[in-house]
Amino acid sequence: MIILAFETSCDETAAAVLDDDKILSNIIYTQSFHNKFGGVVPEIASREHLKRLILVTEKALSDANKNIKDINIVAATSSPGLIGALLIGLNFAKSISLSLNIPFIAVNHIQAHLYSTFVGNNKPTFPFISLIVSGGHTILSKVDNFFVHKILGTTLDDAAGEAFDKVAKILGLGYPGGPLIDKYATLGNEESVKFPIAKIKKGEYNFSFSGIKTSVLRYYQSLDDSKKKNNQILSDICASFQKSVIEALYNKVKFASKEFNIKNIAISGGVSANSYLRNRFLKLQKSGYKIHIPELTLNTDNAAMVGITAYYKYINDIDKKKYLHEKLLETAKPKLDYENF
Ligand code: KG4
Ligand code: ZN
Repeated sequence: MIILAFETSCDETAAAVLDDDKILSNIIYTQSFHNKFGGVVPEIASREHLKRLILVTEKALSDANKNIKDINIVAATSSPGLIGALLIGLNFAKSISLSLNIPFIAVNHIQAHLYSTFVGNNKPTFPFISLIVSGGHTILSKVDNFFVHKILGTTLDDAAGEAFDKVAKILGLGYPGGPLIDKYATLGNEESVKFPIAKIKKGEYNFSFSGIKTSVLRYYQSLDDSKKKNNQILSDICASFQKSVIEALYNKVKFASKEFNIKNIAISGGVSANSYLRNRFLKLQKSGYKIHIPELTLNTDNAAMVGITAYYKYINDIDKKKYLHEKLLETAKPKLDYENF
């Protein structure tokens, strides 16, 4: 089964071709145009998707050595995301589905992050604990089977990635903040500033990152101007902040793992690219945990994760009757939150 998948929910224009669950190509165009605004501008994102989508699709097909006629299934992110941006990928995918008379599969972006951990041979086995940490969401869940997810906790305020982005902005480092904080942190001392780490309470799996963000703001404001520009001081703040956020995530995951007696853990979403997070969780493998974190090209938004989710939806018969063309209008109404997760 050859799958052509699209991701256009935010500022990545992406297309991928898969042969079942194997990635044949994975093309991502990151819209760096937004960087100068310090965040994603929705209208610009939509226009950039319009400009780039066909080029990205052609490249995905040619890298996979496939022709559009070889495609058996087409898939696109349907929600959550920026409404204008979603509509471009969705309608492009639906048009291909209609013109080739092949099924169209709508994919929830958060589920796509979760199933990005199924790429390759080291797939999680059920049940597993899933931590999704992206720019828009922080979700801890227990996954009992394909598309049987029980949400244990979400963020009460900022998502983990959002906290990285906001702190980078406070420190004047630029956008997107996560990779920059990660880079600065490698030169910093993580013990230099004590930012609060959320306390663990039994059965309480929600997250909150706005407290850490405010502490960074207060600390930074207390510095004199020369210190604010000192790279070593900035690196120390980044390392200390990064440690607090990742430790909060780590503690909750370990707590859930103990409570449900599950040592299979899958971590996905943009923040799972973070080097401190990867080291911290991968070390657990020494104590019998199975840790699944996608390789670096699959943490941040991409279309391969949309393709693999579509593959698992298809083979598990999820929503199958909706693939019929007469139902295309009804499928994939973009939604603004993670109600379908
Ligand atoms: O999953 P993603 O690409 O988009 C959403 O679905 O939101 O995640 C983007 C987020 C951004 O907030 C970005 O700063 C963060 O992931 N991120 C990182 C790293 N790379 C990306 N955060 C921490 N460390 C990184 N290395
Ligand atoms: Zn994402």
